[in-house]
Formats: sequence, structure tokens, C-alpha cells
Amino acid sequence: MPTELSPIEKAKFAAARHATTFIRDGMKVGLGTGSTAAWMVRCLAERVRDEGLRVTGVATSTRTADLARSLGLTVTTLEEAGWLDLTIDGADEFDGDLGLIKGGGAALLQEKIVAAASDRMVVIADAAKRVAALGAFPLPVEVIPFGWTATQRLIEEMLAGQDVLGHEITRRMAGDQPLRTDENNLILDLHLKRIGDARALALMLNQIPGVVENGLFNDICDTVIVGHPDGRVEAFEPDAPAREVGLIDIRSSANIFADLGE
Ligand code: 5RP
Repeated sequence: MPTELSPIEKAKFAAARHATTFIRDGMKVGLGTGSTAAWMVRCLAERVRDEGLRVTGVATSTRTADLARSLGLTVTTLEEAGWLDLTIDGADEFDGDLGLIKGGGAALLQEKIVAAASDRMVVIADAAKRVAALGAFPLPVEVIPFGWTATQRLIEEMLAGQDVLGHEITRRMAGDQPLRTDENNLILDLHLKRIGDARALALMLNQIPGVVENGLFNDICDTVIVGHPDGRVEAFEPDAPAREVGLIDIRSSANIFADLGE
């Protein structure tokens, strides 16, 4: 229940709750992946149930699709939807230009495809995700399994010429097995510490054979909604100061799980 949540979960919930107010009747909406996006899916399901909102969702991962369907939301494929009005997703980091690192939940490929096929991308986050420079969070890169060690070596060689502080690369694990994405690919996490030029790095990464996609989202996000544990909500937009846009009454939302039958 939201009243029993940790401060960070309350912050995520506040951001998610506010962001669902951007969703209008008849919209086709990209549904992000991760704990913040899961709150958004729950809040959207509540609106659909209470207001009779007609919304078609396109999920960015199998687990988001499963959650959305379990809460009664209509979920279709991106091919079927064609183009989306809005995508709401979480992020691991965002900077002053609204550049993002995503992929902490290993869903960056579908997340980027879905966000790029949307008129608007709104990111929901807690304040800890805001950074002066991207890169403290390890940058996820999705690679195909075939020849992945050669792909890693090419990434290492490319990084030597980039404006980054760290160069370590680790293959992401799920328990004692290499993690597999929804497309059955691998994730390499690049421990760069600080990324000087995210646009250049994203282009260089995607030129390497074996790299499917990287977790840098440059010039894709339109708005970041940041929630705070006390329910305050701020909006960040490019070239504009942050502004307070709402106050979510977290206590009055306490029945969201029970109401939705979780
Ligand atoms: C999944 C993602 C997530 O949006 C990101 O990891 C943030 O997750 P959370 O909301 O749980 O902090 O990119 O691939």
C-alpha cells in the first residue's frame, strides 16, 4: 500500500500518478518497464476502471505486458498500433538536456523503439535519477550472443578514443546465468563513470557489429516528471527551469492495490 511504502517508492508513485493525467481517452500509449513504470501501469488501470477511459497500451517488455493485462488493460503490439500518442517510462539517469540512461531493467531495445514511435516521451523518476553528467549508472548495451566477446573487444577499443572516465565492461548476469533480454540477446554494462559526449558515444556504439542498441536516449525524451516522497511533483523540460506541477495525496491512494485486486 502506498502509505507503507519507502520514501523512494512514494516518490516513484507520485511521479507515476501525475504522469497518467497526460493520458486522454482514445490514446495509444507506450508502457515502460521498471518499478516506476509499474506504478504508472497500476495508476492507469485504476483510471481505466474508474473513468471508463479507452486506452490501448503497447508494452516495452514481457513483464510490463503481463502486468498490464493482469490489471485489465488492453495491450497490443507496436506493429498493430502503428504509432503512439505518448510513452511513459522510467529511467536510470537523466541530465539537464533530458538525455537518459535506460536499460537497468534490460528492456532498452523495446523501450527505445516504442519511445521513438511516439509523439511524446514522458519519463517518470525520483529525484536521485537527476545527474549533472550521465555515466555513474553503468551504460547498458544490448549485443547479440554470436561472437559477443569480439563485440566487447571492439567496444573496448572504441571507448579508448571517447571522452569517458571508466572503461570496465561486465556481462550482466541473472543469477549464475548470463541475462537474456526479451529478444534473447545479452547485456554488456559499460562502467564509464562519466560520459562527456553522449550523442557521439551513442553513434559510435551503434556502428559496432554485434551491438543491437545502447541505453543512451538522446533527444528522445520531452518531459521528465520527478516525484518526491511528500507527494510533490516537478516537471523538467529542455531549456526551462524545473517547475512544480502537482501534489499527489499519497495517503488517499492507499487502496490502489486492493481496488485492483492485486
Ligand atoms: C528498464 C529501464 C527502467 O526504466 C529503469 O531501469 C528505471 O527503473 P526503475 O523505475 O525501477 O528505477 O530502463 O530497462
